[in-house]
Amino acid sequence: MPSDYCITVSRAASGLHGVITVPGDKSISHRVAILGALADGSLQVQNYLCSEDCLNTLRAMQQLGATVTPGDCPQNFTLTGTGMRPHAPKQDIDCGNSGTGMRLMAGVLAALPFNSRLFGDESLQSRPMKRIIDPLASMGARLTACGKKAGCAPLSIEGCTLHPIRYELPMASAQVKSAVLLAGMLTEGTTGVHQPAVTRDHTERLFSHFGVPCSVSEDGLDISVTGPVRIKAADIVIPGDISSAAFWLVAASIVPGSEITLRHVGLNPTRDAIITVLRRMGADITVTNRVDAGEPYGDITVKAAGKLTATTVLKEEIPNLIDEIPVLAVAAAFAEGTTVIRNAAELRVKESDRIATTAGNLRAMGGEVEEFPDGLEITGGKPLHGATLESYGDHRIAMGFLVAGLMAEGETTLLHCQNINTSYPGFEAHLHELTN
Ligand code: S3P
Repeated sequence: MPSDYCITVSRAASGLHGVITVPGDKSISHRVAILGALADGSLQVQNYLCSEDCLNTLRAMQQLGATVTPGDCPQNFTLTGTGMRPHAPKQDIDCGNSGTGMRLMAGVLAALPFNSRLFGDESLQSRPMKRIIDPLASMGARLTACGKKAGCAPLSIEGCTLHPIRYELPMASAQVKSAVLLAGMLTEGTTGVHQPAVTRDHTERLFSHFGVPCSVSEDGLDISVTGPVRIKAADIVIPGDISSAAFWLVAASIVPGSEITLRHVGLNPTRDAIITVLRRMGADITVTNRVDAGEPYGDITVKAAGKLTATTVLKEEIPNLIDEIPVLAVAAAFAEGTTVIRNAAELRVKESDRIATTAGNLRAMGGEVEEFPDGLEITGGKPLHGATLESYGDHRIAMGFLVAGLMAEGETTLLHCQNINTSYPGFEAHLHELTN
């Protein structure tokens, strides 16, 4: 896709209609690639997210010796692990745009007996890596941030034997938690983390899926793993990504006349606050066919139910919908009253500074937004007008504002939105399918 790829939408006059299946979950896909690559034997992976981010992680695992045997479609394959004996990569590892890929792989590579180097695109090389370097260094890891910007990638890793720690996470970050736990599983003794709020628990759930002993406190805040572990190969079906589904949850909630169903969407309770918050705003969202597997999933039906009303997002909800905030802000711009989203300073260090980029794009469409160091207040209810908007190299900004364009007067064009492929290949096809 060319680097100046742009998408134009206009108001979806008759609403969104249809039944779609969103692609596999991004967070789970990264973790399946990493853990599967270390497993004893082979596992069938179904519905892997074939986005640039997750394919980079899978390729990295192949560089370490894991093998991928293609299945009936690109999302399904057999992954054969190295039985905890990966080898040094012959080349530097390209993490593309993915903070998750880089931070999680750094946790593993720090504890393996060889040297490696991780690099990424311009956006990734300006994102903070000190947050993983600090705890890993206190385990004895030798990681150097070699980027132009202090504390940023490329990361040079001299793999060595680590020692266990108990780490108090300074921020609610599943990536940092997972980097420490992944290093911990390769380290003799018990490594524990305490998180200030519950964050997505895919690593913990996959540990249990792959037979890795891991203990989680009743409140979900303390997690520990005792290494070194063995990873038992076990087949896995990855559910649809609720963060991708969120674009359609909002679109069908704000565009009158809509009725859509999204099939097999992941409903992990550490990821589903977008449903809770949209329902609180008056959205009509029904979950059917719920399956409570290792990762729960189900079908979600959304019907437009009149104008939404504003809400205040609770502090504890923030980590549970952190990636959905740009599109939630779009919902807020069409909701009656002032929506408050605070305690979300982490948004400043995502693929773009999502507080600034969300506020800027909403204003460009005529929205009323106040920006704070840790969030946004959006006063909605007035019509937005179409505009030509930057994506800022950020897939969720691109998709979030294409959703805004479905309800704005006139045309909306998102510039440079090839980045959508980092998380949601097929987004544009779904956009056409649901609006035509
Ligand atoms: C992720 C955790 C979140 C999220 C990211 C994926 C993960 O980041 O924003 O898209 O898979 O662990 P932080 O852990 O940095 O908050």
